[in-house]
Amino acid sequence: MADSTGGTEHSTGKTERPDGKKPEEPARLAGHWAIPVTGDSLFTWDYDSDSDRLLRLYDKGKRLQWDAATALDWSRPVDPGDPLGMPDELIWIADSELWDRLPESERAVVRRHTAAWMYSQFLHGEQGALICAARVVQTVPGIDAKFFASTQVMDEARHVEAYDRYLREKIGVRYDITASLQGLLDSIVRDSRWDITYLGMQVLIEGLALASFGIQRDLMKDPLAKAFNAYVLKDEARHVAFGQIALRDHYRDLTDAERREREEFALEACWVLHARYNGEELWRNLDYGAEECIELTKRSASLRVFRYRLFSRIVPALKSIHLFGPRMRDGLEKLGLLRFAAMDINAIMEADSRAADEIELAMRRQQIEAAIEIGRSGRTGVQDDRPAG
Ligand SMILES: [Fe+2]
Ligand SMILES: [Fe+2]
Repeated sequence: MADSTGGTEHSTGKTERPDGKKPEEPARLAGHWAIPVTGDSLFTWDYDSDSDRLLRLYDKGKRLQWDAATALDWSRPVDPGDPLGMPDELIWIADSELWDRLPESERAVVRRHTAAWMYSQFLHGEQGALICAARVVQTVPGIDAKFFASTQVMDEARHVEAYDRYLREKIGVRYDITASLQGLLDSIVRDSRWDITYLGMQVLIEGLALASFGIQRDLMKDPLAKAFNAYVLKDEARHVAFGQIALRDHYRDLTDAERREREEFALEACWVLHARYNGEELWRNLDYGAEECIELTKRSASLRVFRYRLFSRIVPALKSIHLFGPRMRDGLEKLGLLRFAAMDINAIMEADSRAADEIELAMRRQQIEAAIEIGRSGRTGVQDDRPAG
């Protein structure tokens, strides 16, 4: 059984796309992945912000910076056989005779590699977000959006740093980017229009992030994993809110041709996330019968929970940004996702924002308690390495 994977065994893509097209293989370079970019870098001479709502999110972004190195207790050891404290219900193959037959030592391998596959995708997705946010600084016309994107660049860099550290120090196995996520990132980054970057990143990929990190925060038992994802989620809620406000205004007056192109782009992404984001590489890397494990995964309650959380964010968000014409509704119906349109996106975003505020309060309480503790022990908070006496 391999302990790490080069990740070259990508999805077989057995599920047909709605348009019958084959997915393109993204280009690879040794150690890098190069995507050619075109388009204009826009200066603006209008330094007046035209949106208080966007500026408030920028202000929040400045105030709520945190340091992954100091905000989290990295010294806490994790269980190497279960680095996230993952309940069995979340293991994709857990409800099966195969799982019943596996000795505990092999179940530990599955838990560790499931954690590795998931956190590797989070890591690579976060790098995609970093690149997209940096791009938006250049391509978006408004000064308020440039300001906000610059705080998002720092947020995403912190997320990349922290997921990489978690993988290195706590899990010890890293997977390559999965083909479905790579294909999505490729189509987002290749397009030079800022609204496509927003649609792809802030609505679709960040929707994936909110669903995934929410599961980590709510259902994993390891305290470091829970706290870590709660911090990241707080940033992501802000990014998603920004994307939706910006696109809601911009998409109100699209021509039919412009709306069609964006709806098709979003539908294709929904199809990829629905049909192909399912951890096939994990089972091809482990020795338990890949085809059986893939089938079990597709039918698993865990994947249903994930999809519920994912599409209950993405579908109402598409509706709220006016990408919800007959074409979109028909496409969602075919994917079995139209029922999510009835969900209240404002209530979901308010719940995200409340959860973010609770985390912020907890952060402040923690900082105050740390300051009191330093005061009580008479320490300055500065490490003094001089020998005593
Ligand atoms: Fe992020
Ligand atoms: Fe983000």
